[in-house]
Amino acid sequence: MEIVHSASVLDEMLQPFRLAGKTIGFVPTMGALHEGHATLVKRCAAENDLCVVSIFVNPTQFNNIEDLKHYPRTPEKDYLLLESIGTDIIFTPSVEEVYPEPDKRVFDFGMLDKVMEGHFRPGHFNGVAQVVSKLFTVVRPDKAYFGEKDFQQLAIVREMVRQLQLPVVIVGVPTVREADGLAMSSRNQRLSEEQKKNASQIQRVLRASDAMRGGYTPGQVADYVVGEINNVPGLSVEYYEIVDGNTLQPISSWEKTAYAVGCIAVFCGDVRLIDNIRYN
Ligand code: PAJ
Repeated sequence: MEIVHSASVLDEMLQPFRLAGKTIGFVPTMGALHEGHATLVKRCAAENDLCVVSIFVNPTQFNNIEDLKHYPRTPEKDYLLLESIGTDIIFTPSVEEVYPEPDKRVFDFGMLDKVMEGHFRPGHFNGVAQVVSKLFTVVRPDKAYFGEKDFQQLAIVREMVRQLQLPVVIVGVPTVREADGLAMSSRNQRLSEEQKKNASQIQRVLRASDAMRGGYTPGQVADYVVGEINNVPGLSVEYYEIVDGNTLQPISSWEKTAYAVGCIAVFCGDVRLIDNIRYN
């Protein structure tokens, strides 16, 4: 496994593989890796000739400077994990390498980034699109892997690829969870054992809400979810929206879509967690 900090060195390294017609798989991350990331990487390694993983805490997607400062960084541990699961190349550039000058690009994602995370974290998805498009330009992967845990991010990345006509296949990977249902996240490291137990109620309530669809509207189901989760000590819901999984727009009746997804953001103390459920 190689660890590369420079885009030009990475390009030189990848060129012979491209010429030989080998497929390049790519998993972008911000490090502090856990089993969720590992699942993406294993899939990437299994489905491609070469598996490239990036570790880069992207400043342009943080709209809160404190969140950026507190973002966990565990490079040595990450390298060991990545080596053990089939990573060929780790690309971990500096901020100056990715942004030699400020990225002034403003993407237009229509309504996709106006709701949910986009509403509560203005500018966040523009930053994600900036960094992912730059990383795609350097790595030029055949396939790139993203987690469904960040459901809206996955939709934004697909839309960006469509708009820029990039020759990459975006693969969505189901959310990896703790045994009690808590979605794995780098941010979970900042939770106490008690908080983790409380946070596991998020997925429990979402699953329970699935059974209510027969008798209740999406609005009523959403109210139930918000009430139940706010009743758990230390949890405070920022939003819960039941949306069409393609347009991300809220639905008023279950008949409006065959692809209803509930997306939630919850504060557990000062740690902000997101999760989602597909209503089948
Ligand atoms: P990060 O939060 O490190 O996540 C990297 C990838 O891992 C994302 O595609 C995310 O959806 C996926 N992931 C995280 N937790 C997961 C889980 N429990 N199950 C399945 N997949 C999971 O998302 C980012 O970084 C950044 O925004 C990035 C795309 C790298 C751009 O900076």
